Amino acid sequence: MPDLFASLVTSRVAKRVGVPQPTTLRRYEPGGPLCDSPVLVAGGGRFEDGLRRSLRDLGLAVTGDGDETAGRIGAVVIDLSAATDPGELDQLRTTAAPAVKRLARNGRVVVVGTDPATLTDVAQVTTQRALEGAVRSLGKELRAGATANLVLARGNADAGVRATVEFFLSGRSAYVDGQVVVVDESAAPPPGQDADPARPLHGKVAVVTGAARGIGAQIARVMARDGATVVAVDVPAAGDALARLANEIRGQALQVDVTAADAGQRIVEAATSRHGSLDVVVHNAGITRDKLFVNMDESRWGTVLDVNLRSVLRMNEAILGNDMHDMHDRRDRRDRQDVNGGMGDGGRVVCVASIAGIAGNRGQTNYGASKAGIIGLVTALSAQVRARGITVNAVAPGFIETEMTAKIPFATREIGRRMNSLQQGGLPLDVAETIAWLSQPGSSAVTGQVIRVCGQSLLGA
Ligand SMILES: NC(=O)c1ccc[n+]([C@@H]2O[C@H](COP(=O)([O-])OP(=O)(O)OC[C@H]3O[C@@H](n4cnc5c(N)ncnc54)[C@H](O)[C@@H]3O)[C@@H](O)[C@H]2O)c1
Repeated sequence: MPDLFASLVTSRVAKRVGVPQPTTLRRYEPGGPLCDSPVLVAGGGRFEDGLRRSLRDLGLAVTGDGDETAGRIGAVVIDLSAATDPGELDQLRTTAAPAVKRLARNGRVVVVGTDPATLTDVAQVTTQRALEGAVRSLGKELRAGATANLVLARGNADAGVRATVEFFLSGRSAYVDGQVVVVDESAAPPPGQDADPARPLHGKVAVVTGAARGIGAQIARVMARDGATVVAVDVPAAGDALARLANEIRGQALQVDVTAADAGQRIVEAATSRHGSLDVVVHNAGITRDKLFVNMDESRWGTVLDVNLRSVLRMNEAILGNDMHDMHDRRDRRDRQDVNGGMGDGGRVVCVASIAGIAGNRGQTNYGASKAGIIGLVTALSAQVRARGITVNAVAPGFIETEMTAKIPFATREIGRRMNSLQQGGLPLDVAETIAWLSQPGSSAVTGQVIRVCGQSLLGA
């Protein structure tokens, strides 16, 4: 649903009455430049040289420390992964602040650090952890569609850091702000995997649940645009809309209620028997049945938990196999015949959580529980299937302009829509772009993560 208020209010009126004037966000266009040039790359960390090279290879002008070229700067990438003492954080201020002053509309600030969880030295952990506070605060200061995000590396993780920095620089991350993504060295993408940057999902078979409308339909469209063959799943009652969507993207419509006991098997069967493999599953289907906790009846509680959470656990058994439960000890696997489920090695599972699962929301104890449960599932499951090169991540949308949010009364909707650093609601496209990026072969170093697509919502910040 469009943001009518913003389109009706002229900038002069907005200034006079003091209401926010959201910037039209720069969104991804296949074949377009990654971001505006020049990009300042500095900081002296272990990824700096590789980042410079890869950004130049992408056709961007890269400037260095102390470069005083006049004019706007498209993006600032500061690699402080080698900083070991809080004193070194001052570099962020001395190097980045002058560039941030010159940041173009829809500019980007990306800071690279080392994951504090991999460090033991107290001063080093302190220094690296401090980056998060600085970046999240900067995200709240930036204006005109600019964002600030942090990439934390485990070990060398060169390829993963480059892929993640590129995501944050690109229009795919238009509504992702103030986020921290950990990139793992042990899951570096195999070389030569993403040969065609315009169709990074070429040859992949992707299943999207809840695809008949809203965010799910947009995920299916973006997956198809990026080259995937899409199996679009929804309830039989949404069959007409589902068929239209499947026709539009030349995919397959599959009428399945995700709560059915055999939903996982049917999904695996549809993908593998007709299209030859199951490479990506997006667990998007979800419902709300809001009620204050004291009035929450069994049906509202049970249905929301079943559709949003238990169905995902059940379907994953058929999709991922016994890794779901007892694959801590990989020696057991040799004795098991039915271990792997329908998804091949190197597969991608992306779940749709919500900021309600992080911050909680009035009237949504059932929904909040289901979405927080999804975050737990992602954490546990990602560790169990890591050895097979399968990644499991979640996106947590904030206020997204859909039929669901259009039903919220105007005043409440305006508050929800504006209470974020970008001062606007996101589009289903923004959620879809992050999910499609997580689904790419080049995102293999990102697993167990929850990326909020919320414009840095103040809720749960
Ligand atoms: N819209 C937002 O602002 C927002 C914010 C945070 C999270 N989310 C999450 O994003 C996802 C999509 O939300 P949306 O706004 O597009 O919702 P929506 O209601 O517009 O679409 C949900 C789709 O899921 C399908 N579905 C529902 N139950 C199903 C079942 N049992 N089996 C198969 N399909 C089923 C519906 O038929 C519908 O097509 C949900 O998981 C939702 O919780 C949405």
